[in-house]
Amino acid sequence: MPGPNKNKFQKPKNVKGTLTRLLSYLAKRKATLALVVLLIFLSSIGTVASSFFVKPLIDNYVVPLIGQSPTTENMMPIIKALLFMGGLFLVSIISSYTYQRIMLYISQGTVNAIRRDLFDALQDLPISFFDSHTHGELMSRFTNDVETVRNFLSQTIVQTIQSMFTVVATFIAMLILSRWMTLWIVVFVVFMIIIIKKLGGKSSTYFRKQQKDLGIANGYIEETIEGQKVIKVFNHEGETVDRFNELNGNLRRSATSANTFASILMPIMGNLSYINYAVLCVFGGFLVIIGNITVGTISSFLLYSRQFTRPITDLSQQFNNILSALAGAERIFDIIDAEKEEDNGYVVLVNAVIDENGEIKETEKRTNIWAWKHTHGDGMVTYRRLEGKVEFENVVFSYDGKKTVLNDISLYAKPGQKIAFVGSTGAGKTTITNLINRFYEIQQGKIRYDGINIQKIKKADLRRSLGMVLQDTHLFTGTVKDNIRYGKLDATDEEVIRAAKIANAHSFITRLPHGYDTLLTGDGSNLSQGQRQLLSIARAAVADPPVLILDEATSSIDTRTERLIEKGMDALMEGRTVFVIAHRLSTVRNSNAIMVLENGEIIERGDHDDLLKQKGKYYQLYTGQFELS
Ligand SMILES: Nc1ncnc2c1ncn2[C@@H]1O[C@H](COP(=O)(O)OP(=O)(O)OP(=O)(O)O)[C@@H](O)[C@H]1O
Ligand SMILES: [Mg+2]
Repeated sequence: MPGPNKNKFQKPKNVKGTLTRLLSYLAKRKATLALVVLLIFLSSIGTVASSFFVKPLIDNYVVPLIGQSPTTENMMPIIKALLFMGGLFLVSIISSYTYQRIMLYISQGTVNAIRRDLFDALQDLPISFFDSHTHGELMSRFTNDVETVRNFLSQTIVQTIQSMFTVVATFIAMLILSRWMTLWIVVFVVFMIIIIKKLGGKSSTYFRKQQKDLGIANGYIEETIEGQKVIKVFNHEGETVDRFNELNGNLRRSATSANTFASILMPIMGNLSYINYAVLCVFGGFLVIIGNITVGTISSFLLYSRQFTRPITDLSQQFNNILSALAGAERIFDIIDAEKEEDNGYVVLVNAVIDENGEIKETEKRTNIWAWKHTHGDGMVTYRRLEGKVEFENVVFSYDGKKTVLNDISLYAKPGQKIAFVGSTGAGKTTITNLINRFYEIQQGKIRYDGINIQKIKKADLRRSLGMVLQDTHLFTGTVKDNIRYGKLDATDEEVIRAAKIANAHSFITRLPHGYDTLLTGDGSNLSQGQRQLLSIARAAVADPPVLILDEATSSIDTRTERLIEKGMDALMEGRTVFVIAHRLSTVRNSNAIMVLENGEIIERGDHDDLLKQKGKYYQLYTGQFELS
């Protein structure tokens, strides 16, 4: 008996709906599937018929020959009969080989489609979805769940159909052979099912415990691999091993209990079927003696008795496999159906030219002048030049709808201004920037971009106009050049190098073993923290956006390099709006306006000198540093 499936006990919520939907992936291969069903039918019939053929073989060909000496003449019929039987086997084998090959092909194609839909869905989900689902959880949809579905499609479906055909065909064949013996078999099978239920039911609690313990142990392993450095820093290797031994011990105990039941089931079933076989022999022998049936009948019947119980026990396992595959499919569909990032924006960003009358015209060419194209309700189209003016008006925001993270934020950034956010950790600085590019939706108030409510702007266009260096840098597997070019896919090599120079990343890149072609792996783990930040600044710079948001972009960069970057940026950012979040005074000092955030509110605002004069929070935050240094 195959081992219990991992997800066996996560029952699907909507069996019918999920099954229909899963099978709908197969819908366009109806003809092929019909062929598969036909082949399964042929294969089952082939097996059942060849056993049935034992009866005439013995009664009509063997028994009459008893006591005669074999001659070519009297052996001919039996050889022909044997060849016929061989032919039946051959049909059965070829059909089963063919349908398994077909299903392999179909299931791989279907799984491919499911994975594609799943991945597509993932790209359309809002950021908040990723806040509430762990990486491990999402990854397991692609691995475990897709795997159970693949198993279901490539094996379980056909096995179930095959088992059902075989059970029905065998049952009919048995009825034809002997009603009394069939009755006995039915009684026996019912008895067997009761035993399976009893033992299976008990072991299921242990299997559930085994799954849980396995999950805990795996989680612990994952955590310790990720946290190796911290474990070593605190010399916790010993404790870590002890804890693991404990978890591993729990797993051993629950797995042993779970498998004890499963492993006694097998021999019990095996022995029962031998007993049944013996009983059938005696009972059948008796029926032969009283002349109720022939020797051939009992021979066929004995073969069937083995053939009949097997698919019935298989069916119970297949039923579990179906349930777990449906549960897996349901988890996959949950993601595919999860609410997509909504985008009702209709204001789009277009390339523009300004004609001699000062009017904005749309153009196909890249002109480096951008305009917002606003299609109004009455079909009228207006253009507004993209300048980079950002306005917050009494914005209130909460991540979870309960705890207010930003409260009544109002601010105004003119094109070309540099606005700095400062404040203690958790004050809400990153949150503000996440609202400008609409990673999250605000609950109250308005955010305007060049005077347009950002909810009216198409998200892709809004984000295209904003350059962003996120607080946690992320680099992709690829070369340094590829990673910078991520900011503008059609950037030439010259543009990439220019951006790297602005970000002051050029000099360290040229010192890398393969310069711009150095391969970065594992989120740029072969670079220093500061170097990774420089690359992400270069990536934002190459896009050449009108508004730039730098979230702690220079926190791991030395003061001298930072000043160099700032010089480059100043040149690049001429006439553009910049939001910076920084803890360092040197970055903040030359901003046009500084917003001091505390608990989600702007408590002070002004330029550096104003704020120092106010002697408030800003003064506290930064004079401390002055006095120290
Ligand atoms: N994804 C999130 N879901 C729920 N709450 C969040 C989320 N991100 C941040 N918060 C909460 O919002 C508040 C503001 O966080 P934010 O990241 O804006 O702080 P910050 O000012 O950028 O801090 P830091 O200087 O440490 O980067 C914090 O209390 C934080 O716990
Ligand atoms: Mg932050």
